[in-house]
Amino acid sequence: MYNINDIRNDFPILSRNVYDKPLVYLDNAATTQKPLCVLDAMREEYLNVNANVHRGVHWMSQQATELHEQARETVRQFIHAAKTTEIVFTRGTTEGINLVASSFAEDFMKEGDEVIVTVMEHHSDIVPWQLQARRKGIVLKVIPMSDDGVLDLEAYQQLFTEKTKIVCATQVSNVLGTINPVKEIVRIAHEHGVPCLVDGAQSAPHFKVDVQDMDCDFFVFSGHKMYGPTGIGILYGKEDWLDKLPPYQGGGEMIDHVSFEHTTFERPPLKFEAGTPDYIASHGLAVAIDYMNKLGLEQIEAHERELTRYAMEQLSQIDGMKIYGPKEHHDAVVSFNVGNIHHMDMGTLLDRLGIAVRTGHHCAQPLMDRLGILGTVRASFALYNTKEEIDALVAGVKRVSKMF
Ligand code: ALA
Repeated sequence: MYNINDIRNDFPILSRNVYDKPLVYLDNAATTQKPLCVLDAMREEYLNVNANVHRGVHWMSQQATELHEQARETVRQFIHAAKTTEIVFTRGTTEGINLVASSFAEDFMKEGDEVIVTVMEHHSDIVPWQLQARRKGIVLKVIPMSDDGVLDLEAYQQLFTEKTKIVCATQVSNVLGTINPVKEIVRIAHEHGVPCLVDGAQSAPHFKVDVQDMDCDFFVFSGHKMYGPTGIGILYGKEDWLDKLPPYQGGGEMIDHVSFEHTTFERPPLKFEAGTPDYIASHGLAVAIDYMNKLGLEQIEAHERELTRYAMEQLSQIDGMKIYGPKEHHDAVVSFNVGNIHHMDMGTLLDRLGIAVRTGHHCAQPLMDRLGILGTVRASFALYNTKEEIDALVAGVKRVSKMF
């Protein structure tokens, strides 16, 4: 049963006031709030089981290791990966992409080789490749989009050359809300014999992801955008790729044997998990996934799609309103500007009404350049948002608009 009042009670922060106004939290694409069950589980682990994982023969270390490895299995099921060893714990989406960019470029790219990205990538799927471009002399090529934010797949096909080595695409744009046809993007990449990384930061929180069905080679996402703690994320990699990629960082637990002359490495996923992992956060993420599963991914998706539809319908009736992104295949994010009101002014004044939205370029400056703007106001939704909160946003935008 999707009972929104019960759900909101699981997130006490949603009942707080800011500036003596009830909080309307619509910045969920940046980070989501955490349910009590996640906070309780993490507190409980620190209070009763805390010990380093994979290292101890003692009881608490074994308990902590078991929770950490159970979390890996929970994640595997969540994205329907074939094997638990294909799940690497990272600090978040950004680290996952940096890991792939660094390790992939190291052994599989040379000067002049090309990586294809989309024009709507987050900086975290552009800059890691640019760092490799500086190091290895590789070249970025960009899939363009239409004015309403739909990728041009014809143009994508034309980008491939014999130097293309990898394709990277976000599943959902953090600015436009566009749901990209990633299965098709992966299929085309494979037709050209190259792997594909899919950024799931804005998709995994909102609908069922199936990495085997998508057939992507790498999939990355963050815990904190889906009701889990900060500092934990996932890199899924097909076994074959994780076996082939060199390690990203060196340190404890990622080795098989070390001498001053020669070191051999662990098998994946440990090969990519140097140092003490955030085992409390991995457990917290697993509890967040259990929470989402209990509500039902399909119910969450239906609820958020309806909020998105309603927000676009209501906002579009405001004078001077410009909503970015497509009308169809649009998920959980609505970016807009009103007339020539600066997005920062709109965001700051909405804040004074208790409404939290994000403003600016949303870590997607190349996309802003493509749209010919400096930034947008962005409202983004989560499983606990309500139509009343969207009404408050619409009333707030109208009120601010009148002031200009
Ligand atoms: N990537 C996050 C966002 O879009 C921080 O807000």
